[in-house]
Amino acid sequence: MSAADQTAPIPRRFAPCGPLKGRIRVPGDKSISHRALMLSSLAVGTSSISGLLEGEDVLATAAAMRAMGARIERTGDGQWRVDGVGVGALLQPQAALDMGNSGTSTRLLMGLVASHPVTASFIGDASLSKRPMGRVIEPLSLMGADITASTGGTLPLMLRGASPAVPITYRLPVASAQVKSAVLLAGLNTPGITTVIEPVPTRDHSERMLKGFGAELSVEQDDDGARVIRIRGEAELQPQTIDVPGDPSSAAFFIVAALVVPGSELVIENVGLNPTRAGLIEVLRQMGGSIEEANPREVGGEPVADLVVRHSPLKGIEVDPAIAPSMIDEFPALFVAAALARGRTVTSGLDELRVKESDRLAVMATALTLAGARVTEQEDGLTIEGTGGESLPGGYGTVATHLDHRIAMSMAIAGLASSEGVEVDDTRPIATSFPDFETLLDGLAQ
Ligand code: S3P
Repeated sequence: MSAADQTAPIPRRFAPCGPLKGRIRVPGDKSISHRALMLSSLAVGTSSISGLLEGEDVLATAAAMRAMGARIERTGDGQWRVDGVGVGALLQPQAALDMGNSGTSTRLLMGLVASHPVTASFIGDASLSKRPMGRVIEPLSLMGADITASTGGTLPLMLRGASPAVPITYRLPVASAQVKSAVLLAGLNTPGITTVIEPVPTRDHSERMLKGFGAELSVEQDDDGARVIRIRGEAELQPQTIDVPGDPSSAAFFIVAALVVPGSELVIENVGLNPTRAGLIEVLRQMGGSIEEANPREVGGEPVADLVVRHSPLKGIEVDPAIAPSMIDEFPALFVAAALARGRTVTSGLDELRVKESDRLAVMATALTLAGARVTEQEDGLTIEGTGGESLPGGYGTVATHLDHRIAMSMAIAGLASSEGVEVDDTRPIATSFPDFETLLDGLAQ
């Protein structure tokens, strides 16, 4: 259960602030942290992870892997040790797996369980219980798993894994790294070769890390330019030492904050810049944002750099929908930047935003309008007329965050660049991905 299920909402007003200056570090990448725990739990032997994100979503994954037999211990700040059980040896969990707010935990773990002789119930909070699971139920059922979901293909659901599962070739009907990863993880314990065809590339952390752990995995392009990913099942994974890079999706809030608050100059250290994740930086540069990459290097098999971000006058642009998968979680932050840019920003092709932790198109349109921005909502995007660098008015009413961490953090940033501040109804969901967000922000925004 997430904190937001057990306690009363914690509202907060985010007040306007002076320039943001200094150096910060954002927490470990959420996507990579989930995968590091899952694959370490399936290796034979002891893996060490440093820089793990200790947010509620990742802790839900840790608890689930423990419930299925892995020994997972925290040995220090962001330092974890995992004794894996081996592919094929997951144990039957004794209670329902509580996924809290985490779609990634749910969909990836459904994949793992699907090819093990295990029956598991998956439950989650009010936000997660509305999200579509049909997209993973379909391929995992084709592999032989028996899944009974709530009406509409949602949580709570029960999954009985197939043993042995059947290898499939699956063409992704939605651009989703979670669906891709669910099938690849199911493929780990499936005899033969499981193939995923990905017409539109999405984050490739699963592929990188599976290879790193020694799985036989190949990626090729077919004649239509789609990525064809093949994994050989009944794999034996070797324990690893993993250093998790900083999360570009968490850095996004501070990048936008530094761009829109006059006089700011901020260094954000150790930010993961995997090309399948770095779309926001490209779009903000197209808008005129000054974002430099210093000290480029590799951390945990992923490209990383320190970002130097300076306050910049931004201009509105038409965002190419083809870039959406590489910044899918960053649109709420981008909408805030657009609300403060000169001229019009148009986004499209964003239907997927309607099935995230909240309907991020509707919720951000309402939230930004309440803060005084001019926003029109379309079926698949938002059109925003920016202030041209003037502060947003703010102060009109309380923004509803709908148990969505990224709405809360985006509107916090809008508050910094407002005249009257922005009040959000609940800051608890921030702990799912970025427990130190407010401390870090308060330390900068004096
Ligand atoms: C994630 C994939 C994305 C993203 C989510 C994390 C992952 O979801 O929105 O926050 O770790 O694979 P979709 O696969 O549904 O696009």
